[in-house]
Amino acid sequence: MTSFILNEKPIRTEERPGMTLLEFIRGVACLSGTKDACHEGECGACTVLLGSRQSDGTMAYKACASCLTALGDADGRHVVTVEGLGGEPLTLAQRLIVEHSASQCGFCTPGIVLSLTGFALGSATLAYDDAVTALDGNICRCTGYASIRNAAKALCAALEGIDKAPDRRLAALISSGVVPAYFTDIAARLAGLGAAPVPCGKNTVTVAGGTDLFVQKPEQLLESELCFLSRRGDLDYVREDKEFLRVGGAATIEDFRNSPEVRRHFPALAADLLLHSSAILRNKATLAGNIVNASPIGDAAIILLALDARLVITGEGGRKREVPLDKFFLGYKKTDLACGELVSEIMVPLPPSGARYHFEKVSNRTTLDIAAVNSALLLTAGPDGAVKDLRVSAGGVGPVPMLLPGLDKLNGRKPDAAFFNDLSKAALAAAAPIDDIRGSAEYKRLLLGQLMLAHGRALAPVEAA
Ligand SMILES: Cc1cc2nc3c(=O)[nH]c(=O)nc-3n(C[C@H](O)[C@H](O)[C@H](O)COP(=O)(O)OP(=O)(O)OC[C@H]3O[C@@H](n4cnc5c(N)ncnc54)[C@H](O)[C@@H]3O)c2cc1C
Ligand code: FES
Ligand code: FES
Repeated sequence: MTSFILNEKPIRTEERPGMTLLEFIRGVACLSGTKDACHEGECGACTVLLGSRQSDGTMAYKACASCLTALGDADGRHVVTVEGLGGEPLTLAQRLIVEHSASQCGFCTPGIVLSLTGFALGSATLAYDDAVTALDGNICRCTGYASIRNAAKALCAALEGIDKAPDRRLAALISSGVVPAYFTDIAARLAGLGAAPVPCGKNTVTVAGGTDLFVQKPEQLLESELCFLSRRGDLDYVREDKEFLRVGGAATIEDFRNSPEVRRHFPALAADLLLHSSAILRNKATLAGNIVNASPIGDAAIILLALDARLVITGEGGRKREVPLDKFFLGYKKTDLACGELVSEIMVPLPPSGARYHFEKVSNRTTLDIAAVNSALLLTAGPDGAVKDLRVSAGGVGPVPMLLPGLDKLNGRKPDAAFFNDLSKAALAAAAPIDDIRGSAEYKRLLLGQLMLAHGRALAPVEAA
């Protein structure tokens, strides 16, 4: 049984938890405002808000692609479609879209309204840049983005100075006409709906964000017993201790990206992780899911390899073991994870003083695209400026996300242009790319060499120019 609130209406359904939320909304609840287009997370037409009751009694809303969200993931939550917003009267985002002529055929418009509403409910800054980021997964074929951005700019102006404190924000947004008044009671109504976690084990499929699973094997998910990590509040955290940043196995890429701990220790990651998919996917996709899917070009996996991350793996009965990430990938899509085991925590060592980090990704589009080749570097220099330690990862150039071997020989040198030229040669010696849809082997080798020089230009701009 899946129980949730769809707009204002309580839902209790026996439909299979592995059905997509989009299929339920359109096919079972007969709400056709949420559009079905790519079914692969690529267009944003199916965007809805997923609201979760927080431990302090407030609500947190995230815009998500409903085509890659399981019905079972809605258990205990508030799902908002365009029918649950305005109509008569229009909400603020809807009205501004009309006033700025930001809709023509209207197919993308419900998704855009939901993404802008999610931004108003959740953005820490309510700044225009964040509004544009919130829209990076919503594709419009006919209006043109200038007028959509004008509507977003007007929304930011209208929300300037609004009370952002979590316990007062919803009331402020209701008075500003961003969401209807019935949102006030949702947290109380959800209190009785607490979703029971299904234990993950040998006979269940672990669903984290589902952004990979629902593209790869939607039919299999319909038939399987699913364990949803979104119900594991105990695995949803980013915190630090003396040595490590500790990231729970259920933490999303967006929560990681925005966490104060990450901003403090790895400020560059806020921008780097914007290159991962799009906001409506990052709001669900997890760091752990990016590692376990073992894609040779996973962005988070590549970044975490350079940062020397370790995984805490929990098996049945709660047995824990630790595995360095560079030992986790055993072969193409093969990992050191036994059936029934979970990646429960990712441990990222805090950067030593003198450490410099940089990430590069080459893809056809800036957002919503996986890499042809990507690479991250962590370089630690001593007080004399000589390299003490160098970790460089590369994706798309082998069957697994790779940590480049044999770089010790570069230690002790100044990280100048000659150093990065030699790094480029070492990277090419280690790489074994293949021809595939993202490019020929020759093209990827060329990219890899250039990315090493790009690391150099970012870290030693004058000498490596
Ligand atoms: C349109 C689109 C664009 C994308 N763009 C990018 C991109 O730019 N860069 C990129 O790297 N990826 C991209 N992806 C791929 C995908 O979004 C990411 O890999 C994402 O991080 C996967 O995380 P998830 O939580 O959604 O994983 P899920 O789909 O939930 O799970 C993936 C796999 O990991 C397993 N799993 C998940 N969590 C755990 C855990 N804690 N313990 C054990 N097993 C677990 C699942 O059982 C499944 O086998 C894109 C996907 C789409 C659809
Ligand atoms: S239908 Fe395109 S993102 Fe869901
Ligand atoms: S208004 Fe037609 S696709 Fe955006």
